[in-house]
Amino acid sequence: MKIEGQSALVTGGASGLGEATARELARLGARVAVLDRNAELAAKVAAEIGGAAFACDITDTASVEAALAGAEAAHGPARILMNVAGIGSAKRIVGKDGSPAPLEDFARVVNVNLIGTYNISRLFAARCAKLDALDGGERGVMMFTASVAAFDGQVGQQAYSASKGGLVGMTLPMARDLAQHGIRVCTVAPGIFATPLLLELPEPVQQSLAASIPFPPRLGKPSEFAELACHIVTNGHLNGEVIRLDGALRMSPR
Ligand SMILES: NC(=O)c1ccc[n+]([C@@H]2O[C@H](COP(=O)([O-])OP(=O)(O)OC[C@H]3O[C@@H](n4cnc5c(N)ncnc54)[C@H](O)[C@@H]3O)[C@@H](O)[C@H]2O)c1
Repeated sequence: MKIEGQSALVTGGASGLGEATARELARLGARVAVLDRNAELAAKVAAEIGGAAFACDITDTASVEAALAGAEAAHGPARILMNVAGIGSAKRIVGKDGSPAPLEDFARVVNVNLIGTYNISRLFAARCAKLDALDGGERGVMMFTASVAAFDGQVGQQAYSASKGGLVGMTLPMARDLAQHGIRVCTVAPGIFATPLLLELPEPVQQSLAASIPFPPRLGKPSEFAELACHIVTNGHLNGEVIRLDGALRMSPR
């Protein structure tokens, strides 16, 4: 699908990989809606790219419905959904003091990363399926943001890995479901990227993380993630696939 002129939605678009994706989509001529629970940062990014911002919590159906309706009123029906919003956590299943990990922590991460992504995707897909087909029968494209932790999760990453593994697992069945509607679904599994969270770490820690990447031995650039996200939109034969974007990184146990 050609990006120019399309109405596109980016969750987590206020920061990091989502922000880079929103900027790249706008650069390529899309009308971009930045959906994020951080309304202030979302508004700042949207203003800079000539887009629109919507305060939205992907786990809250009413909030998602309102954002989808608002984005449609501002930019017309969306055919592109970039799911980038996500949170992390690190908790060993048995803590150093011998107590079990709090179940709420596991549920919170799975609720945002997996259930929240599914929530907005189902609502987007139902709207998109009603649109006229473009040339070649295509109606829309969705991307999920997983992580290499879906495959090589480290110590303490059960919740995060389970949530990202869930996105990997639902990619193909969702692509199969939506094939009849001409909507493609792909997932990107990033390695280690230079987003605000990582850039706050001490320089030596950043360097050691970068050195663990075979080639290139540096943190990924958010713009590299955004380029792949946009390529998924423009390459009409990419569907039902999970793409690692990690410089050949395979995470060690810790
Ligand atoms: N940075 C990395 O190295 C890396 C690696 C692998 C995967 N990822 C994944 O990429 C995505 C983006 O990561 P990032 O580093 O850019 O993080 P980030 O914290 O900079 O951005 C995440 C954004 O998501 C938003 N968000 C969180 N929960 C939300 C919710 N319930 N509803 C709406 N918005 C919500 C936050 O407000 C924030 O703006 C995440 O899904 C993360 O798991 C990042």
